[in-house]
Amino acid sequence: MEFHVKSGTPEKQRTACLVVGVFLSRKLTEPARPIDKAAGGLLSNILRKGDLEGKAGQTLLLHTAPNLLCERILLVGCGKERKFDDTQFARVVDAATRALGKTGVTEFVSYLTELEVKGRDIGWKIAKAAEVTENAVYEFNQLKSKKDKDKKIIRKVTLSVPSRSDLTIGEHAVRIGQSIAKGMTLARNLGNLPGNICTPTYLANTAKKFDQEYGTKTKVLDESAMQKLGMGALLSVSRGSRQPARLIVCEYHGGNQDDAPVALVGKGLTFDAGGISIKPATAMDEMKYDMCGGASVLGAIKAIAEMKLPINVVGIIPSSENLPDGDANKPGDIVTSMAGITIEILNTDAEGRLILCDALSYAESFKPVVVVDIATLTGACVVALGDQASGLLGNSDGLCKELFNAGKISNDRAWQLPLWDGYQKQLDSNFADIANIGGRGAGTITAACFLSRFTKKMKWAHLDIAGTAWKTGKEKGATGRPVALLTHFLIHRCNGYKPAENT
Ligand code: BES
Ligand code: MN
Ligand code: ZN
Repeated sequence: MEFHVKSGTPEKQRTACLVVGVFLSRKLTEPARPIDKAAGGLLSNILRKGDLEGKAGQTLLLHTAPNLLCERILLVGCGKERKFDDTQFARVVDAATRALGKTGVTEFVSYLTELEVKGRDIGWKIAKAAEVTENAVYEFNQLKSKKDKDKKIIRKVTLSVPSRSDLTIGEHAVRIGQSIAKGMTLARNLGNLPGNICTPTYLANTAKKFDQEYGTKTKVLDESAMQKLGMGALLSVSRGSRQPARLIVCEYHGGNQDDAPVALVGKGLTFDAGGISIKPATAMDEMKYDMCGGASVLGAIKAIAEMKLPINVVGIIPSSENLPDGDANKPGDIVTSMAGITIEILNTDAEGRLILCDALSYAESFKPVVVVDIATLTGACVVALGDQASGLLGNSDGLCKELFNAGKISNDRAWQLPLWDGYQKQLDSNFADIANIGGRGAGTITAACFLSRFTKKMKWAHLDIAGTAWKTGKEKGATGRPVALLTHFLIHRCNGYKPAENT
């Protein structure tokens, strides 16, 4: 999809479709007025007849419009004007694109970006519109044998800005939104691929392809290399699987040579059956999504590489399957991690922290300014926060605040949970340094407590994306979260990244 920004009067646009908003109840938005006037009151007549109330997400496609150069007009309900905020804006842009996706339209001009959104500027609106539009047309059908060849696809989208002086910022914003969308699409594709295709080796090959495209440096550690480093926790998980484990290390150098990198560590468990502590059969297919943390790291690297962000980032993805097997971990087994901490595995289904702890120890060797891990780590996080916010915990309040703010600005929210010392004793073990589970209470927190034992020397935060990385039910599919959050977090760390320097 191609994006353009333009400033100009709506009634003069020559396009297959003009997209304009209608607030509740039946109130034309500002850009719709000149269109209405030029077309002799066409829009207000239609609203008066009651065909569109203006509820958020409602759409109505018009084919005839006198005195205008556009072939169609799409009216989009925007809900209450007073409540038109980030979430509402994203929802309306999504609804408009989906409605147009069902028509023959291959190109359109949208005036939704000229609507006032509480507390957001034109740059934000353009970036968000580009991101949402691209995501709204996303489909995962690469594994269906029958493809709809005649389907018309939207190729070109023009987003309008109020004045010519907004064009520079608009073009910069398009680039941000589109880069994020590309990263999200990659994360969604990797997530939606089944476990028999998206294996640890497949993830590693995906990262390696970045090297030619973006000039990143990817190194893939195999099991013997990990053995040499003493990664006994990670390797204990992959012992139960026929797919060899991989530790994927992808370095992006956009900043100064000697700037310490931001480390992003993503759980890349390509299928989690639970191991000997096997999961129930219901919805077990969804455990193909247990690599979404790793996918979001690759997605974020893709996004920042697309926009050539001046920052150094190292993505580290421990990748394995977790299956029952004669050689798999058994409850009660004790393994030694790379950090030397011994771990009693009381539940083999708490495997994410086992692969992450060794990856976090490995991250230390890069002397990162900060390290953020991203993982579909606990079912408890789905209970606590549902699908609205990712869980956020860490040992640095400053870093947690940065991530919280990045979640707010990107509408890809995270919510902090406490990591008080009092929770740590839940990990006490009678036979090893620590246990890999912490009992019934506060499952998301005790999982983070476990990781905190391996990150004491770094500024570290953890995002539990168990509830946000994919949708269940009828709309089952990966969401691409939290690529937007991570990308905004990295953008924010580059104070020097301004539109003028990039155009
Ligand atoms: N990958 C799962 C977490 C998960 C479960 C995410 C359901 C999304 C939906 C993780 O490996 C796991 O199994 N965690 C256990 C930990 C428990 C044994 C302490 C869990 O949450 O049940
Ligand atoms: Mn598990
Ligand atoms: Zn898991």
